[in-house]
Amino acid sequence: MTPSRPETKVLPTSRPGRQSHWYDFHAAQQPDWDDPQARDEICTQLAERPVLVSVDELRALRQELAAVAAGRSLVLQAGDCAESFAQSTPEHAAAKADTVATLADRLAADTGTAVVRIGRIAGQYAKPRSAPTELVGERELPSFRGHIVNDPAPEEDARRHRPQRLLQAYEASRTTARALRERPQRLWTSHEALILDYEVPLVRFDEAAADLFLGSTHLPWVGERTRQSDGAHVRLLADVVNPVGCKVSGSGPIEELLRVCERLDPDRTPGRLTLISRFGADHVARQLPDVASAVRAAGHPVVWLCDPMHGNTYRSRVGLKTRQLSVIQQEVRGFVTALRAAGVHPGGLHLEVSAQPVTECVGAEVADEEQLTTRYTTLCDPRLSPRQAAEVVRTFTEGL
Ligand code: PEP
Ligand code: CO
Repeated sequence: MTPSRPETKVLPTSRPGRQSHWYDFHAAQQPDWDDPQARDEICTQLAERPVLVSVDELRALRQELAAVAAGRSLVLQAGDCAESFAQSTPEHAAAKADTVATLADRLAADTGTAVVRIGRIAGQYAKPRSAPTELVGERELPSFRGHIVNDPAPEEDARRHRPQRLLQAYEASRTTARALRERPQRLWTSHEALILDYEVPLVRFDEAAADLFLGSTHLPWVGERTRQSDGAHVRLLADVVNPVGCKVSGSGPIEELLRVCERLDPDRTPGRLTLISRFGADHVARQLPDVASAVRAAGHPVVWLCDPMHGNTYRSRVGLKTRQLSVIQQEVRGFVTALRAAGVHPGGLHLEVSAQPVTECVGAEVADEEQLTTRYTTLCDPRLSPRQAAEVVRTFTEGL
């Protein structure tokens, strides 16, 4: 369902002729807010808040990504599947940034290449879901959709979609972004740009650049469920100057992916578009070579990243969602081999990883599924522990 455009004079920016036209296109995965009037008021407030990134920063990141597209450097993009409001403190931000830095330093040292460091952080609060409801024990409840929409507590009331959470997500993102800014080596921010009522009020017009930018994050991406070439999410990212990402899998024809590439990267600019491959370990070797060749033949100088997580999730015997480290590594090997076969640079990794020694994926220190219950704290998908993530980075490096 596409929500109607919020009633606000401020939305979104001062560019004539482009006034929040994104609401005219189909938007999948949008909340069903319990208080539509409050949502209008909150969108107005969001539109008046300071942005979290600058156009100069977006330009700098695009340049760094252009070097990756040219095969001269690599990317390590990593963080939570879903960030939590409670853990959006400067201390948590520092621990998460340290985790990414340790993995990126290892990758840089082992390859002798510069590594662009990007967190799934400071805005990763929205989750697309395959079904509107989920079973929690015996109870069927509205699905948890990320802290920006509802609360994961297994209660009907907690699962209501509350627009006040849009402002909480903004404040949590701002706290995290500020903490990241204070670090000597800056971590770039990224998240899935999913909730239009959050992203659109944070689109702004930059006078000097004479262009629109998305002020919520450095690198927004469109996910597997919202990357339709004619959908609102792709249209939104097409209109902003940020570097942008898009998940890619084997579902849907290559022609549709080429339409998405055309919208997001019409000028064939290195550093503009990052494609995040998530085929699954069983499919990547067979399907990615043709896809990568087609994108190259269409002239898009994209960055290719491997997300070896989302195509390999299953429900364990103990009932928890999990992923096998060995299967994740198999997808990484398949990714590198497939891109090499297509004559394309494997640009790096996109991982779900915790700063804590969680027991959410099986492998390394998590010997079997029975151990998953020890420290399983994710709000959504199972993340790698820092040690498991180091193994995945090593597998990538060995494949290069
Ligand atoms: C994610 O990155 O958390 C996610 C939901 O991925 P995908 O859109 O690829 O399923
Ligand atoms: Co996830």
